[in-house]
Amino acid sequence: MTLIQPILDELILTDEQFARICRLVYEHCGINLHEGKKELVRARLAKMLRKYNLKSYDEYIDFVLQDAGGKTFYEMIDQISTNLTSFFREPKHFEYLTQKFLPELIAKKQKIGRLRIRAWSAGCSSGEEPYSMAITLLEAIPKNQTWDVRILATDISTRVLQIAQQGLYESQRVAAVSVDLKKRHLIPRKEKNGEMYYEVAPAVRNILTFKYLNLMDPWPFRGPFDFIFCRNVMIYFDKPTQEKLVNRFWDILDVGGHFFTGHSESLTGIHHSFQYVQPTIYRK
Ligand SMILES: C[S@@+](CC[C@H](N)C(=O)[O-])C[C@H]1O[C@@H](n2cnc3c(N)ncnc32)[C@H](O)[C@@H]1O
Repeated sequence: MTLIQPILDELILTDEQFARICRLVYEHCGINLHEGKKELVRARLAKMLRKYNLKSYDEYIDFVLQDAGGKTFYEMIDQISTNLTSFFREPKHFEYLTQKFLPELIAKKQKIGRLRIRAWSAGCSSGEEPYSMAITLLEAIPKNQTWDVRILATDISTRVLQIAQQGLYESQRVAAVSVDLKKRHLIPRKEKNGEMYYEVAPAVRNILTFKYLNLMDPWPFRGPFDFIFCRNVMIYFDKPTQEKLVNRFWDILDVGGHFFTGHSESLTGIHHSFQYVQPTIYRK
């Protein structure tokens, strides 16, 4: 009891320490950690305290701040960010791309003789979203033409980017991919432990570029993009941060370009110039 108790006590996250962490995270990546996240932050960062043999959250915050290279900062973000995602999540967006947006975009580009499409998955997590975008695009572009198609996929978490780059998913993770699409774009692989995995086919991978990017930082590219997915990312940001970001997306989209947000995100209460298309879909 006497030996264990001090260790447990030291792992208490005080309100002041939680406020320091909230400030640090908000200032660097716009994520707004509210009181309801305190227990999650405490539990996830406790692992980091153990890893670095630190005795309190104050020591840990100082340690993160002193790390000039920022590796431990990104490790901290990795611990507290939510990376939940799935293939063809929010199927309405993919239906809209297939049935309306892409046929019109393709026809427009054919007319002007510019066979080029650019898309961005901003907050791509472990890759399921940009791979679903890539599969949808490859299905839509005419097979008898050579198109220059590229998707940029970015995230602040280097851990999920590594998974994304691998492009290898357990069979239950690709359950939402139809049998036909699976046949054409995913290669079944039996791994050592006998588990069935699917590897994203080279044609799909080849149109994707994964990059680390904190959306709060300057963006090292100019676009213009034909469409942008930033889904289930802005829920972690406060309204002023969301507004700035939404307007930066507007700036970097081509005229007629579309912006897709997550199901629980809306642009209500935000000043922007987008035209509403349908829930969570906006047009420049
Ligand atoms: C819940 S996931 C959403 C993944 C995917 N867009 C989807 O809807 O399935 C949110 C992602 O946003 C990323 N994220 C959070 N804050 C970010 C920031 N400031 N810059 C870039 N990515 C961020 C997280 O690392 C996480 O992978």
